[in-house]
Amino acid sequence: MSSFFSVDLALIFHNFLVAQLTQLCNCPASTRARIAIKRHSFEKMRSIVIWMGFLLIFVVLCGSFADARKPRRPSSIHFYMRDTLQNKTKSLNTAYMVAAPNSNLTGLKFGAVIVFDDPLTEGPDLTSKRVGRGQGTYMYDNMYTGFSALLGFSAIIDTPHYNGTINFFGADRLTLPTREISVVGGTGDFELARGIATITTNSIDGDTFIIHCNVRLYY
Ligand SMILES: *[C@@H]1O[C@H](CO)[C@@H](O)[C@H](O)[C@H]1NC(C)=O
Ligand SMILES: *[C@@H]1O[C@H](CO)[C@@H](O)[C@H](O)[C@H]1NC(C)=O
Ligand SMILES: *[C@@H]1O[C@H](CO)[C@@H](O)[C@H](O)[C@H]1NC(C)=O
Repeated sequence: MSSFFSVDLALIFHNFLVAQLTQLCNCPASTRARIAIKRHSFEKMRSIVIWMGFLLIFVVLCGSFADARKPRRPSSIHFYMRDTLQNKTKSLNTAYMVAAPNSNLTGLKFGAVIVFDDPLTEGPDLTSKRVGRGQGTYMYDNMYTGFSALLGFSAIIDTPHYNGTINFFGADRLTLPTREISVVGGTGDFELARGIATITTNSIDGDTFIIHCNVRLYY
């Protein structure tokens, strides 16, 4: 909008000068010499104005490109994350246990390390709109009182609205219906984000568990 405005302004100014010049050229022949000098200086001025117009357009365009790169910094975002671990059909898996103690230390999976690359969707169904991928690890680290994992992952968000990563880290106490985990940073549209994600278990079906992440963000 603003660049169109400045183009208009430059054109109006330019047209005005051309009109003045044309008027001058219609003068009687006796003043030709004087006109020639004036015309020369007017042409010089006209080219300066044209260049200034170009400079103005360039500056305005640079400004609008800088605007496009500015982080959007939403104050909240939510998604569902679907984690499939150890299905017999290997191609369905989005998570793998990459290390585990070679004995059942406590019967609570203590010491197991899982790496995942899970789809993130708007709704709980796999057919729901994709918003990105959740990539990271969780490791079972509670020896005595129940399932709990240290969860660290990056939500790589790629939608027409937002583009960037949100980084999560902290204890995920899986037996609680609702738990919180810290947002420790972000990039792109989430540049320098801090925040809290409220995690609820949406469903556990065999080898697939779906969690809902409701993320509040501060910058
Ligand atoms: C771990 O414990 C489960 C259930 O108690 C048992 O079925 C399994 O064989 C044990 N695994 C190892 C490696 O001891
Ligand atoms: C988001 O950013 C990535 C990496 O810069 C890029 O490949 C992708 O096309 C972007 N997506 C959108 C919707 O702009
Ligand atoms: C593996 O995935 C298939 C297809 O989604 C599902 O029917 C099956 O129950 C899964 N296996 C387990 C152990 O959950």
